Amino acid sequence: MGHRTLSSNGFGTTTSTATARHSDAATICAHAGIGSGDGQPLVTPLCASTTFCRDGVGSQAEHQYSRVSNPTVAALEDALAQLEDAAGSVCFGSGLAAETALFLATLRSGDHAVCARSVYGGTTRLIREIFGHLGVESTFVDATDAKAIEEAVIPGRTKLVFVETPANPTLELTDIRAAARAARQSGALLAVDNTFLTSVLQKPLDLGADVSVYSTTKFIEGHSVATGGALVSRDPALLEKLRFTRKCTGGIQAPFNAWETLRGLKTLALRVQRQSATAERVAAWLAERSEIGVVYHPSRPRDVAQRAIADRQHLGAKGSRHGAVVTIELGGEYALATAAAFCRALKLCRLVEHVGSTETLVTHPATMTHADVPPEQRAAAGVSDGLVRISVGLEEPDEIIADLARGIDAARAAATGRSGETGRSGDASSRQRRSPAEVCA
Ligand SMILES: Cc1ncc(COP(=O)(O)O)c(C=O)c1O
Repeated sequence: MGHRTLSSNGFGTTTSTATARHSDAATICAHAGIGSGDGQPLVTPLCASTTFCRDGVGSQAEHQYSRVSNPTVAALEDALAQLEDAAGSVCFGSGLAAETALFLATLRSGDHAVCARSVYGGTTRLIREIFGHLGVESTFVDATDAKAIEEAVIPGRTKLVFVETPANPTLELTDIRAAARAARQSGALLAVDNTFLTSVLQKPLDLGADVSVYSTTKFIEGHSVATGGALVSRDPALLEKLRFTRKCTGGIQAPFNAWETLRGLKTLALRVQRQSATAERVAAWLAERSEIGVVYHPSRPRDVAQRAIADRQHLGAKGSRHGAVVTIELGGEYALATAAAFCRALKLCRLVEHVGSTETLVTHPATMTHADVPPEQRAAAGVSDGLVRISVGLEEPDEIIADLARGIDAARAAATGRSGETGRSGDASSRQRRSPAEVCA
C-alpha cells in the first residue's frame, strides 16, 4: 500500500520508514523507530514535552500538543502501520482506551454492534456496560460460526462487527474473511482484536478486516512495563475519525510508554516465534496428562473447520505460528479448587492478569479477566471455573514443563482430597455455598 505519512522524530530527522521500506516482520521490528542523518540519534528519543513551539499564529507544525500527537508516539505508530502495510495507526494509553475510541468513532445511539461472545472480558464489559447505556444495542455470537455472524447482522443498523481471534481465553478461531463478508452485507466495519498473535503471525487487514485492534500492553511491548493500545487501518478516512476521537477524548499513549513499547517491539518477531514454538511443545505435553480435561491451543484445533482457519490465517514457520497462549481445563466437580491448587503450586510461572510477557504467566479467567462477564455468557463462551490460561514465556521449555507438572500434581491432590471430603460429609450444598475467594484461599 505504502500510503502512510511519515513522521519526524522531533529531533530533526525522520524515522527509518522514510529511508527504506522493509517487508519482513523481523526487519521492520528491529528497525522500528530508528533514525537516519548525520549526527542524528539512532534510537527514537523520548520526547517528553507536552507542547511544541510555533513560528507564528496559524503555524501548521506537525506536532502541536501531546494530547493530539507526539513524536515518540508517532514513531511507534509508523512502525505498527508498516507491520501491516497500513495507511496508519493510532496509539492509545491502553487496549481498552483504543477500543473505546473505536466504538465512539463508529457507533451512535440506536446503532447495533455484533461482538464475538469469546473476547477479553473487558471488551464485553465495555460494550455492555458503557455503550449499552449510551443506546448501542449489541448481539454476542459464536464467531467460530460465520453463519451466526451473518444472521446477527441487522442490515442498515449494524455498524461494527468485533471479533478476537484466537479468542481470550478459549483460543477459538474466527474466519476473518467470512466475518468481513458478513459485516459488509450491512455496510458495517470489521474490527479484529489481534492481540494474541500480533501482526507477526496474523495480518487481519490482508484478510478483509477494516481495523486491527491491539492491546500493545501484551506481546508488542512484551516486558510488562508499559500499557498501551493501537488501532491499525488502511482507510485514511477511518484513521482521521479515530485521531479526531482521540483528540476529543484524550486517550493518547504517554510518550514514555510509547518509547518503552518501541523498545519492546524491536524483538517482537523473535519473541513470539520462540514463545509459540515452546507453547506448541507445552500444549503437546499437557495433552498427554490424564488430569487435564481439555488443552486448547491452535496447534491442536478442536475440529476440521478450526484447523482450516489456523492453516489459512496464521503466518510463519510450521511449529511456531499459533501463538504463545495455551489454555487448560481442570475439570470435575471441584474445578475451582483444583484450578486454585494448580496455580498455587507453581514456582516458576507467575499468577497474574496478563499475557505476552517474557515470563510464563498463568491466569484464572473466571475470577480474574472474565469476572465481570455475566455467568451465562461466560458459560456459553466456555470460561469454566476450571479454566487456567497459560501465557508461555521465554524460559527453557523443560523448566516450564517441570513447573506445570508441579501444578498438575497439586491439582490431582486437591481433586482427590475434595472427593474424600465428600465421601465423609456428602454435603454438596455447603461446598457450593463457599465463595471463590474462600475456595482459592
Ligand atoms: C485480547 C485483549 N484485548 C484487549 C485487552 C485490553 O487491553 P489493556 O489491558 O491494554 O487495556 C486485553 C487485556 O487483557 C486483551 O487480552
